[in-house]
Amino acid sequence: MKVLAVAVFLVGQASGLPFSHQTHLQLKLTCTGCHAPAASSTRLEDNNLPSRAVCLGCHKDPVIKAPTPTVLNRFNHRKHAAMGNLAPLIAAAIDRGTYLSEGGVKIRPLLNTTNACEACHRGMAASTEVTKAAFPQMADCLVCHSQIDPPWSCELCHDKPKTLKPAYHVADFLDSHHRKDAKIDRTACAVCHGRKFTCLGCH
Ligand code: HEC
Ligand code: HEC
Ligand code: HEC
Ligand code: HEC
Ligand code: HEC
Ligand code: HEC
Ligand code: HEC
Repeated sequence: MKVLAVAVFLVGQASGLPFSHQTHLQLKLTCTGCHAPAASSTRLEDNNLPSRAVCLGCHKDPVIKAPTPTVLNRFNHRKHAAMGNLAPLIAAAIDRGTYLSEGGVKIRPLLNTTNACEACHRGMAASTEVTKAAFPQMADCLVCHSQIDPPWSCELCHDKPKTLKPAYHVADFLDSHHRKDAKIDRTACAVCHGRKFTCLGCH
């Protein structure tokens, strides 16, 4: 009855404001209650955002945007959902120091969750606006997909991986990357080249 009273008050107010997961999760709504198709989605192209019908009980004129594009070309929610809660696995990789991104430290506290969706989509309960932080990082995937051999290993998830180089990979990078003034932060290379690379035998 409480929700109904709020709903009457709300009518017409939802449009124009950014969507807050925090507000809606506090109402005890669940991930799959709104994103119903996500757990059974088998193609990256699937739209797993809610249909307007989900909102109509509480809002008169809900606005739902198109899904945010990523640089991924393949992903299968169903296969990964079938593996259970992956949060402890990702957390263990961060604790062991094998997680291939410095960003692990920041997400570590958010991985103490029993909600399997939050293993990859972290911090939703505190999110007041949808940003890229709602999406997993590449290092999350590499906890399991640990073979690293660019560009071949990249094709599991990306098309045209040869083009997926950081901007600092300028044309003469192979020659210039070991100049004294190159100011290279080796930790940043790990996510694409691994920690133990030989790179044509020079290392
Ligand atoms: C069970 C009722 C309920 C459902 C279902 C619901 N909302 Fe809400 N919504 C609320 C309440 C309560 C607020 C908070 C209003 C306030 O704080 O003034 C809210 C607020 C909002 C706002 C304002 C900003 C914010 O706090 O998020 C937007 C935008 C919004 N809802 C969009 C949606 C959309 C889109 C859907 C469907 C996917 C939806 N809501 C489903 C109850 C609901
Ligand atoms: C009240 C319904 C509702 C609930 C509950 C909800 N979401 Fe959402 N979610 C939405 C809406 C609506 C959007 C699109 C908002 C926008 O575009 O700003 C969204 C966006 C997202 C996005 C980003 C999608 C994109 O393309 O930008 C992710 C990821 C996501 N939700 C995951 C979750 C997870 C995980 C949970 C549970 C912890 C959850 N959501 C709970 C309604 C909901
Ligand atoms: C198992 C899946 C997977 C594999 C394999 C993979 N990636 Fe990614 N990659 C991701 C995910 C997830 C993201 C984040 C996508 C987003 O939010 O747009 C990403 C993002 C990226 C980005 C853009 C953001 C960034 O981190 O700079 C680049 C560039 C990239 N990958 C290159 C590569 C290269 C090169 C390889 C091979 C060495 C590779 N990826 C292998 C999953 C993967
Ligand atoms: C193994 C990691 C992983 C898990 C677990 C996971 N997701 Fe995702 N999710 C992703 C990736 C990767 C994307 C980006 C796909 C893309 O580029 O469209 C995504 C995208 C989404 C989106 C964005 C909308 C769209 O259509 O692309 C929503 C919503 C979403 N997931 C909801 C969920 C829900 C709900 C669960 C739990 C049932 C869940 N996810 C579990 C990795 C995961
Ligand atoms: C817990 C380990 C684990 C994590 C974390 C993980 N994967 Fe996977 N992934 C697997 C396994 C195991 C398979 C093989 C599943 C099968 O074929 O039944 C797989 C299969 C895949 C496939 C092939 C799917 C298909 O349709 O055959 C893609 C693409 C993929 N994963 C992308 C990703 C991306 C992107 C992420 C990060 C957002 C990710 N994976 C995170 C274990 C994982
Ligand atoms: C986002 C992924 C990504 C990151 C991060 C990354 N690389 Fe690369 N790198 C690539 C890809 C993709 C190639 C091309 C592979 C191919 O074409 O065979 C490449 C190629 C190279 C080459 C060969 C020359 C060239 O430009 O093709 C060198 C040298 C190199 N990387 C060094 C580094 C160093 C040093 C770092 C860390 C400072 C780094 N890379 C970080 C993706 C990345
Ligand atoms: C032609 C030989 C050569 C090739 C090929 C080469 N490097 Fe280097 N690299 C060097 C030299 C020489 C240095 C400077 C000396 C040193 O520190 O080892 C260097 C330094 C570096 C450094 C900074 C120093 C360090 O070890 O922390 C990184 C990171 C690096 N290379 C990454 C790569 C990556 C990734 C590739 C392959 C994509 C690659 N290099 C390919 C010769 C090469």
